[in-house]
Amino acid sequence: MNRLKLIAILLLLGACSPSEQADQTQAIPFKATGDMEHTMRWVLDPAADHLWGSTGSIITAEGTEELAPTSEEEWLAVQHSAVVVAETGNLLLMPSRARDDGPWRDMSLGLIEAGLLAESAANARDPDALFEAGGQLYRVCKSCHAVYVQDDAPAPP
Ligand code: HEC
Repeated sequence: MNRLKLIAILLLLGACSPSEQADQTQAIPFKATGDMEHTMRWVLDPAADHLWGSTGSIITAEGTEELAPTSEEEWLAVQHSAVVVAETGNLLLMPSRARDDGPWRDMSLGLIEAGLLAESAANARDPDALFEAGGQLYRVCKSCHAVYVQDDAPAPP
């Protein structure tokens, strides 16, 4: 048997048929708790806002204020928000929410990645790494909105 044939057979053995995939989807007893606006407004946005509000600095008339967490409790809260952000990527990949398996999938995975980056930054109590993760997160939001939201109101950090 030539190698290509063997590979083709192995691929066939590994792949599920479409009906098997449908069965798997039906077998997961999930119930979406709201539409996309709901997921964005009540799950993702507050967590992302909290991350952005915990990093960088703001310059006011009184001087520069550093926003990094200053206590164990604050770092834990940031870690919590980072996990919510990352896990929301999985919510966006669920059958009732996913819009396609192209850019939507990539950007949802990007959201998971940015959330995990923020989580490890918080884990390491590293304000610079948190700032980087916040920037990456912002780019993911903007990229997805650029493609899927008609009149994207900016979600400023
Ligand atoms: C995979 C795509 C995707 C990603 C990633 C994404 N969004 Fe969204 N977002 C949407 C879509 C689609 C809508 C429009 C929802 C609707 O009204 O149907 C939306 C709408 C919103 C809204 C408006 C909700 C409302 O009240 O109408 C906010 C706020 C928002 N997103 C925040 C964010 C933030 C913050 C991030 C990043 C941390 C983010 N989004 C990442 C797809 C995405």
